[in-house]
Amino acid sequence: MQTAPIKPLKPYFQVLDDLDDFVDWKTFFGNDNPVELDIGCGRGLYIFNAAVANPQINYVGLEIDYREGRRTATRFMKREMPNARVIGGDCKVFLSKMIAKNSVSAAHVYFPDPWWKKRHHKRRLFTDDFCDLLADVVKPGGFVHSWTDVIEYFDIIEELMDSHDSFHTKQAAAEREAQHDMDYQTSFERKKRKLGLPIYRGLWERKPLV
Ligand SMILES: C[S@@+](CC[C@H](N)C(=O)[O-])C[C@H]1O[C@@H](n2cnc3c(N)ncnc32)[C@H](O)[C@@H]1O
Repeated sequence: MQTAPIKPLKPYFQVLDDLDDFVDWKTFFGNDNPVELDIGCGRGLYIFNAAVANPQINYVGLEIDYREGRRTATRFMKREMPNARVIGGDCKVFLSKMIAKNSVSAAHVYFPDPWWKKRHHKRRLFTDDFCDLLADVVKPGGFVHSWTDVIEYFDIIEELMDSHDSFHTKQAAAEREAQHDMDYQTSFERKKRKLGLPIYRGLWERKPLV
């Protein structure tokens, strides 16, 4: 049986091994525009809409599931979007080793996997170490946005971020009524709101460097 060849999606989709050990944003995008990360971008509803609406901002989706990442990047390629890319791999490796400190204007972490079973909680993205990574890469005055429908996980995210020395807690945007069927921040927000579930929204600002 023949399998379909994998479409070359470079530069829209690249895995960590395709990249240099250190990613300089100016070289990566060919300009000096601000960079925002969508961590665990999934199907890319947020990053696609944001990149179309804000051509002066560069967006990078980080996605460990290559299939999802490639699907998102295919949309960028079809529109030849210069300001949207997906990097396939573990965001923690990318954030800790491959980009400069204070080099991104925002990190969006929407609907991180809740890992419901207690014995799997250690797989959750939000830990002290992950918040330290966010503090490292987000520049002073930059923002971390995180939303979820899982109150028990949101309580943990809030506790970690509110008590972190590098962040101020801010007021997140209130819920907006969807104007059409795809008018949601992310695919997961759409799915959960259609089920009538409440969404918890967090926003934090990176403090000045001391
Ligand atoms: C529940 S989905 C949410 C997707 C999207 N943000 C949304 O709101 O529709 C969580 C996503 O995070 C990705 N993910 C989980 N751990 C990751 C990691 N360490 N690095 C990059 N992506 C990760 C998963 O593959 C999945 O696509």
